[in-house]
Amino acid sequence: ITTCPKEKGWVSENMYMYQGFWHISNNEFSVQTTMAMQDTYKAHPTDIYLITLPKSGTTWMKALMFAIVNRARYKGNPLSSHPLLINNPHKCVPFLETKIFKNTPTYVDDECSPRLFATHIPHISLPQSILDSGCRIVYMSRNPKDVLVSLFHFTNKLRDESRARMPFDEAFELFTKGVSPYGPYWDHVKGYYNMSLEYSENILFLTYEDMKEDTLNKVKHLAKFLGYPFTNDEEASGAVDEIVRLCSFKTLSEANKHGNLREGVPNDAFFREGKVGDWTSHLTDEMSVILNKITREKFCGHPISQMKGF
Ligand code: A3P
Repeated sequence: ITTCPKEKGWVSENMYMYQGFWHISNNEFSVQTTMAMQDTYKAHPTDIYLITLPKSGTTWMKALMFAIVNRARYKGNPLSSHPLLINNPHKCVPFLETKIFKNTPTYVDDECSPRLFATHIPHISLPQSILDSGCRIVYMSRNPKDVLVSLFHFTNKLRDESRARMPFDEAFELFTKGVSPYGPYWDHVKGYYNMSLEYSENILFLTYEDMKEDTLNKVKHLAKFLGYPFTNDEEASGAVDEIVRLCSFKTLSEANKHGNLREGVPNDAFFREGKVGDWTSHLTDEMSVILNKITREKFCGHPISQMKGF
């Protein structure tokens, strides 16, 4: 296992290369946890998993999936009491690593069905039981330039006084070398895209850019895939729009202005711009050309290269 010492990396801990990908190591995530999951984790056929690279829209998608799946449960209640307005979406849909392997208290109870979990685990390390169980998996991707910029800001926001801010060119260099949490970026995205072709009934591959462009229709499609389609009556009564609004950047960022998800991680760290293309205000032309070249090479001849954002 290769090490990327914390002094040279993004986060406050070392990163470790395992099965070709960089794992972070903190109280919740580690190579050991990934290995334990590979060895012992048993998925339920009714489970739903969200898989992402960090900063690809995990928080947004957690909120949407939670709101869709649990909508009957909260129907008729005042909106202000909705769990997504009281808890950070990361509490409503925990990471598999934290919920199952660290038993961190979260909003969800263990009896809750379907179980909704998220993970950043690369395809190569995904516990086989998740694929064998026949459960549903949603993979959310985002264009590499916005992921890089978002990661850069997130990392700096989480650094305390003991660590200087990371300059953007350093972040750029690491990212292009494939050194980023759960990176190399391209291998993660491509791995899951290929898996979604192989398991087309069980894996839905989405992009942040498509979700932003046509949120309403994508949410309907997502609900159908998850096994919770909107009825005609629901559509007519505006239930889809309500969910889109509840999970919008505006609503969620407002609800998460204060408080911490855990020590050192403020709720508002997950909400910055929420836009497509913010990279234009960070990358120089030269950086953009370099990233385009890497992306072209990595996705050459692959259907991903035709997708929006790539
Ligand atoms: P930016 O930093 O570009 O603004 P993750 O949830 O995977 O950590 O990703 C965080 C990114 O998603 C941030 O991107 C954040 O602003 C954006 N985001 C969070 N909530 C969102 C929402 N409801 N709608 C759209 N984007 C959202």
